[in-house]
Amino acid sequence: MGYRVVIAGATGNVGREMLNILAERHFPVDEITVLASRKSLGTEVSFGEKTLKTKDLDTFDFTGWDIALFAVGSEATKKYAPGAAKAGCVVIDNSSLYRYDPDVPLIVPEVNADAIEGYAKKNIIANPNCSTAQMVVALKPLHDRATIKRVVVSTYQSVSGAGKEGADELWDQTKSIYNPTDDKPPKKFTKQIAFNVIPHIDSFMEDGSTKEEWKMVAETKKIVDPKIKVTATCVRVPVFVGHSEAVNIEFEDHLDEDEAREILREAPGVMVIDKREDGGYVTPVECVGDFATFISRIRQDSTIDNGLNLWCVSDNLRKGAALNAVQIAELLGNRILKKG
Ligand SMILES: NC(=O)c1ccc[n+]([C@@H]2O[C@H](COP(=O)([O-])OP(=O)(O)OC[C@H]3O[C@@H](n4cnc5c(N)ncnc54)[C@H](OP(=O)(O)O)[C@@H]3O)[C@@H](O)[C@H]2O)c1
Repeated sequence: MGYRVVIAGATGNVGREMLNILAERHFPVDEITVLASRKSLGTEVSFGEKTLKTKDLDTFDFTGWDIALFAVGSEATKKYAPGAAKAGCVVIDNSSLYRYDPDVPLIVPEVNADAIEGYAKKNIIANPNCSTAQMVVALKPLHDRATIKRVVVSTYQSVSGAGKEGADELWDQTKSIYNPTDDKPPKKFTKQIAFNVIPHIDSFMEDGSTKEEWKMVAETKKIVDPKIKVTATCVRVPVFVGHSEAVNIEFEDHLDEDEAREILREAPGVMVIDKREDGGYVTPVECVGDFATFISRIRQDSTIDNGLNLWCVSDNLRKGAALNAVQIAELLGNRILKKG
């Protein structure tokens, strides 16, 4: 016996990937329905071998459905998720709306699976920001061994992290560079993204950091340990899929780079590719479509007492969003909504 599952935002980058991953991982689905905005009514999306037609989220009745995977952005989540949750359907949300709500667990299953018990307060579970999800998978096993004091992270985030409009803008602008009569000025991004990098993701905060950077700080604390200090610089790069991060970690205790490599090799969700030779590391194009978070370039930071550097790459539409959401649904099924 399986579950009655709703995908809200099924025409988007994350929604389509959630459908792929549910099918790939043989999630026990008895019935599935796909929702988007009214303008997409009847749009076809794939679920394994099947083709499904989207319905209108605005008029959908969630009564009798077990799990709803939401990927519709904060505004639409605010409008529709409380109603779904109230109707008895557990919402797993990809937006940032509920991530910092103390009554909503923020889950990365490899890191803080036990926090799922808190779901019942609102019937809502939050999925973290893409950059945070991949980083905490790498941090947690190292924190368990040597206690992390501080993290300095710089991200190299792909355009698909800004939704389908972000990916379209890189595609169109790249073509227009070779055809100057077809000018494509920035719309989704604040500056030209083709052949460029932009040190600005989400809105600016009072202290000069951006909301994306703040999310990495707040979410790492909520998921791993409130005592960990994090400082982040988040940068958009002209890559379609796959976020990369250069991570510097300072520990309480000494952790040798070889031991760190061994710990990460054993860690759930992590794949270590770390050869000190040409190409002995992972780049974003190689992680697309994969479930793992890839770690490379593990090395001691000799400028501080107990420091390590590493390079972390993952498919932002998968571990950063859709995969993590499906893993939460699996956890919910195994621990709470047991069937059959
Ligand atoms: N992309 C990532 O790497 C990533 C990572 C983590 C979290 N997230 C979060 O996941 C969510 C979705 O992101 P995305 O990249 O998939 O965006 P996207 O490609 O722009 O897709 C947005 C989806 O939401 C639907 N939608 C938007 N407003 C709606 C409304 N008022 N009513 C019904 N449906 C509505 C859209 O339907 P239509 O096609 O009908 O407009 C579409 O299916 C966002 O909250 C985002 O922050 C994304």
